[in-house]
Amino acid sequence: MNIRSVFQAAHPVETHDSFAADVIAGLTAQPKNLPPKYFYDLAGSALFERITELPEYYPTRCEIAILRDHAAAIAAMFPPGAALIEFGSGSSRKARILLDAAATVAAYVPVDISGDFLQQELVQLERDLPHLVVAPLVADFTKPFAVPDELAALPRVGFFPGSTIGNFEPAEAGAFLRHTSDMLGAAGLLLVGLDLVKDEATLYRAYNDAAGVTAKFNLNLLARTNRELGADFDLSAFEHRAFYNAAQRRIEMHLVSMKRQRVRINGIDIGFGRGETIHTENSYKYTVESFLTLARNAGWTPAKVFSDGLFAVHALMNLRSGIQQSGPQ
Ligand code: AVJ
Repeated sequence: MNIRSVFQAAHPVETHDSFAADVIAGLTAQPKNLPPKYFYDLAGSALFERITELPEYYPTRCEIAILRDHAAAIAAMFPPGAALIEFGSGSSRKARILLDAAATVAAYVPVDISGDFLQQELVQLERDLPHLVVAPLVADFTKPFAVPDELAALPRVGFFPGSTIGNFEPAEAGAFLRHTSDMLGAAGLLLVGLDLVKDEATLYRAYNDAAGVTAKFNLNLLARTNRELGADFDLSAFEHRAFYNAAQRRIEMHLVSMKRQRVRINGIDIGFGRGETIHTENSYKYTVESFLTLARNAGWTPAKVFSDGLFAVHALMNLRSGIQQSGPQ
């Protein structure tokens, strides 16, 4: 099988105009904010890759070890001949662990908002697993989307690794779990990776690395705004700040204005007070129990949790009756 040369776009996705509109809306709001999805341009994706290799940033290493250690047990839960649908796949590295263990998987559908999949990895995947149909999909996976027609009849396994679900507000995470359960259909399986609540020092260090890569990743949002919208942010006049908000169980990332200043974006002047911040990310942490409650309330039946105490991979089953898988019956 061949990778589709033209990615299938399920509905309009990220554009230059929506970036401009979101930046202006976020920076004229009170308090100022920028959506974390804009971290991942080419430069930002490369910086994120470096974050995953930092000694302080444990989540990626933990999740990969959990997937490797339990690959056979996870694969045993897959319905035969399934389509593995990955939400927000920048790289296929984690899916690869599951695909190697689950020999009966018929199709792999990485879904991402940007078409910048690591094309090379997908080509390699098809070479190594010739029985596998690889069908990348460009879609905003935070909203419902349609599975390609040819694959609509396959049983579905959803895969949402990386604690990306932590970027959602808990209510949004619940809504996501609910529409995913509709989309994966009766007997669907969902695997979700999430970072766990833990001691504040470990959490703090993971977002305040000694080498300053996370600071660069955060500041890249301003660099990107300069590059793509012709803004005149002075990057030396803003600082990275990340801290654990224990009451809300989330890491917050901000960019702090070091002085009173004005920035011009698309002909609009934005004023910053000294010490004023732009809130750029929330990264929610869950306990195993708090996530199980969220999942149950969204209609999922918890099947199994794989965890090393720092990070957890949840396997959820859709046992609701009366729900038919969408697509040709
Ligand atoms: C990709 C959203 C899971 O929240 O840990 C890493 C992003 N931000 N360092 C996270 C991130 C700062 C990451 N997620």
